[in-house]
Amino acid sequence: MKSNLTYLKKLELFKELDNFKEGQFFAIADQKVKNHLPQWISFSPHIFWLKNPEEEKNLEVYERAIEFFLKQGITRTSTIYAIGGGATTDFAGFVASTILRGVKWVAIPTTLLAMIDGSIGGKVALNMPQGKNLVGAFYAPENVYICGDFLTSLPASEWISGKGEVMKYGFLSKEIHDMIMRKCAIEDIAVACAKFKNEVIIKDFKEQGDRIHLNLGHTLGHAFESHLKIPHGQAVAMGLKYMFKVMELNQSHGEWSGMVQALNLPAEKMEIGHYSHFDLKTFLNFLEQDKKKVDSKIRLVLVKDIGFCYVEEVPMKDFKTKIQSYAEFKP
Ligand SMILES: NC(=O)c1ccc[n+]([C@@H]2O[C@H](COP(=O)([O-])OP(=O)(O)OC[C@H]3O[C@@H](n4cnc5c(N)ncnc54)[C@H](O)[C@@H]3O)[C@@H](O)[C@H]2O)c1
Repeated sequence: MKSNLTYLKKLELFKELDNFKEGQFFAIADQKVKNHLPQWISFSPHIFWLKNPEEEKNLEVYERAIEFFLKQGITRTSTIYAIGGGATTDFAGFVASTILRGVKWVAIPTTLLAMIDGSIGGKVALNMPQGKNLVGAFYAPENVYICGDFLTSLPASEWISGKGEVMKYGFLSKEIHDMIMRKCAIEDIAVACAKFKNEVIIKDFKEQGDRIHLNLGHTLGHAFESHLKIPHGQAVAMGLKYMFKVMELNQSHGEWSGMVQALNLPAEKMEIGHYSHFDLKTFLNFLEQDKKKVDSKIRLVLVKDIGFCYVEEVPMKDFKTKIQSYAEFKP
């Protein structure tokens, strides 16, 4: 399943959306981007607004959204637009995948992270009390409109998160690595990352092959994110750093430092020592929950060289021992 990616300025995007002004424009949108949107969308009765998308990405709000769209007269031929960050696109995509056995959806990502990751690839999901993204589907949007103009209102923490995920692409693709090191405009880097992910997805939608490479940095990253309660992409950058340290990939660690500098990321926020509440036992418990674990082995994505990644299955016991013996993890 493939999505069409379009890169455009706000005026062009709104001109495109204006075509639906007179009809029923169904959307799920993040309230924080209301000021960016044309008035006819802000005042439309067909928009289901989210206040705190990550907290609302759950079954209870899902049921409310379904009831809302049914009352609004949604039909099998309708399209649901998702306007917001990754939590909004995950939520809206899941609503679209199930309402009336599935309607089309279009993603308009408004955070850097969602532009390069969350809105592309068709993984849509809800959180459960037991953990994040535990209910979901593979259901790709028809179109993804990437419009860098939304980024003007992005808070600093979300810039760090987006750039943290950009670093992952810097290891997966030489072209993106070089763009980062040349300090190209972040919008251009974002487009390159989005294209890269889309190409991988076209070849391996259901993650039976190379798509797993996109998980680079996420094994430790997810454990940092859950334990330290830091934004996703920042946790991925941290996950990359400590993966390189624990697995003694010194060249990759050097390249990591180079990209941190080029992207103007705060390196100190990616040090375990920065977090006084870090607890090794809790961290390892989160690591045990990794979805890529097969029996007692964990599938690690590692870097040979920029643009060359590979997967290694390592017994979880051995990986935990390596972590426990690494000085920075020790209390
Ligand atoms: N489906 C996937 O493949 C995939 C991949 C990565 C992450 N995700 C999901 O994406 C989410 C994280 O992404 P995210 O950081 O974009 O989350 P998010 O949607 O929670 O957005 C982060 C914050 O930025 C705000 N925001 C959004 N756009 C804004 C703008 N233009 N200006 C100012 N504020 C804005 C949001 O209200 C929120 O407070 C998680 O739920 C994660 O599970 C999904």
